[in-house]
Amino acid sequence: MIFKVGCDFHESLDKISFQMRRDYNESLRELNLHVRQDKQLARLWLGKWNNTNVTKLCEHLKCVPPMVTNMENKTIKLFLGGITMSNSQNSEKIEQQLFLDVIRERRSVRSYDPNVQISREEMTEILELATLAPSSSNLQPWRFLVIDTPELKEKLLPIAFNQQQVVEASAVIAVLGDLKSYQKAEEIYGQAVEAGFMPIDTAKSFIERNVDMYSNLPPEETLQIVYTDGGLISMQLMLVARSKGYDTVPMHGYDRAKLFETFGISEQYVPVMIIAIGKAMKPGHPTTTRLPIEDVAFFNEFPSE
Ligand SMILES: Cc1cc2nc3c(=O)[nH]c(=O)nc-3n(C[C@H](O)[C@H](O)[C@H](O)COP(=O)(O)O)c2cc1C
Repeated sequence: MIFKVGCDFHESLDKISFQMRRDYNESLRELNLHVRQDKQLARLWLGKWNNTNVTKLCEHLKCVPPMVTNMENKTIKLFLGGITMSNSQNSEKIEQQLFLDVIRERRSVRSYDPNVQISREEMTEILELATLAPSSSNLQPWRFLVIDTPELKEKLLPIAFNQQQVVEASAVIAVLGDLKSYQKAEEIYGQAVEAGFMPIDTAKSFIERNVDMYSNLPPEETLQIVYTDGGLISMQLMLVARSKGYDTVPMHGYDRAKLFETFGISEQYVPVMIIAIGKAMKPGHPTTTRLPIEDVAFFNEFPSE
């Protein structure tokens, strides 16, 4: 049995690890406790573990049950701060915290465990969640080609200038933009009527207006819309993936013409980016920095230079 406890001891952490040693040792194959710097969050990577044990542990520690429990990835997050806070305050804070963690933890990962396959079911769920992203007139111009077989990933490798992540990742998702997304306007607004969100007459006029407008836009404007919506969906996809314990890297480094030719994609579509997704072998560069916010954000007045 391996039993590792993170380096930074904290009263609550001591309590958790003690409790775990005492009550749960039997069921633990591997335990790795890591406490974030602000000591609010303990992340546990567990070997044999199940929901009942997690609930029991939280009861013992008077700590809020984890909002994210990913048994498949053997990861749970416990909020140590929860011990002193009331329940409603707590769950709100936890949700915020988890969301911010997802954002902070996303990094472009270029080394993946080649043995990890994301099931079609889970991939579909990731894509479904990603499609909750906003889009111009809700026309959802994104289309995805998920490349997840070893043979096709090998085929993609030279197209992506031999970036190794293409074959190591569980899948590579080509995010495409549909230049004729208005063709689905009837289906989209029909759904809204069926769901009771919109009267049929309103839907009809939306459809008419959108089909007319979007089918007559200058090509460069259509492209701009499709790339904007494509960027939003790509970002959302990467954050959903991270929240499920996977990592990603967005890529522009590939031959667009060859991608289209190899996978028989028609000219109705344009490539937005390809995204490798899988289980990280090595973390992304923690050193990637960002410009100071004063350099990029301005209130009310934009600098002339
Ligand atoms: C549109 C786009 C294209 C990118 N293309 C590549 C690529 O071809 N290969 C690669 O390894 N990383 C690529 N990246 C990843 C960037 O290098 C990375 O996002 C940036 O350095 C910031 O690091 P971070 O994602 O870890 O925060 C791309 C990112 C974006 C947004």
